[in-house]
Amino acid sequence: MAPRCFVIGHPIAHSRSPLIHGEWLREHRLPGSYERIDVAPSDLPALIARLRHGEFAGGNVTFPHKEAVMALVDEITAAGRAVGAVNTLWHENGRIIADNSDVGGFLAHLDAMVPGWHGRVGTALVLGAGGAARGICYGLKARGVPRIIVVNRSPERASELASALGHPLEARDWAQRERLVGEADLIVNTTALGMQAKPPLEIDLAALRPGTIVDDIVYVPLKTALLAEAERRGGLPVDGLGMLLHQAVPGFARWYGVTPQVTSALRALIEADILKA
Ligand SMILES: NC(=O)c1ccc[n+]([C@@H]2O[C@H](COP(=O)([O-])OP(=O)(O)OC[C@H]3O[C@@H](n4cnc5c(N)ncnc54)[C@H](OP(=O)(O)O)[C@@H]3O)[C@@H](O)[C@H]2O)c1
Repeated sequence: MAPRCFVIGHPIAHSRSPLIHGEWLREHRLPGSYERIDVAPSDLPALIARLRHGEFAGGNVTFPHKEAVMALVDEITAAGRAVGAVNTLWHENGRIIADNSDVGGFLAHLDAMVPGWHGRVGTALVLGAGGAARGICYGLKARGVPRIIVVNRSPERASELASALGHPLEARDWAQRERLVGEADLIVNTTALGMQAKPPLEIDLAALRPGTIVDDIVYVPLKTALLAEAERRGGLPVDGLGMLLHQAVPGFARWYGVTPQVTSALRALIEADILKA
């Protein structure tokens, strides 16, 4: 039977996952489908029951189900447990497994854009302490970054993240972010600030050292004000679209049996879709 997969969320109309997986299915001439399904929180158990009974090979999970779905599956990967949220589901030996592929997606894109980056990052500065920050800090720690500083508007969330993941994370005040820019070899914006229709990210990059990697996981617009300013000052900009594309790879490989590539053609397709929105 041709694998049938989904992305579930509420709302879900904005998701670009069907475009990504649809393109890979076409490229590899694979039988199968990938559909978006709007699932209200009260309907989540019923949808997971359909997955359990074999109607679907697996799927992606997005807002607001990334935490709630963890109670409905049989096994959660180490990354999923550490982050406390999952976005990819599949069947394995009669069990439903859940993973967080945002962590791998973030790292894969950074690897592609700045090969060998972790060898020259002594200090990483992470702006924000929400769900995305948790995954990114987990990934940076797993890659052996010696010092990871988290700053967040709500300081208790930064402290909670630093104590949950432990050394080498440290929490600092949001007000210190501009001074900390000068200490960082890698800066990651994980807040929603700078995204279209959201307030701008207010940060003066005067202290930025040339060659500092600046990674903004916001991808609408593709080139955020943070990335433009970092580039102007000699920083290495890394945009958020690559993370979105790379996080889709492991799910596709599990469900359809082929590991797809993140190509410039795929990127151009999604870029065009973002620009027309
Ligand atoms: N590229 C990708 O593939 C990818 C993947 C995942 C997420 N993202 C993007 O990452 C962003 C964050 O997602 P998330 O799931 O981590 O969201 P979240 O859990 O809601 O966290 C939001 C973060 O933004 C901060 N924030 C919000 N408004 C702020 C303001 N006015 N001033 C200062 N800080 C503010 C929050 O600080 P407080 O704690 O103080 O509220 C928190 O740290 C979103 O834009 C999302 O689209 C991109």
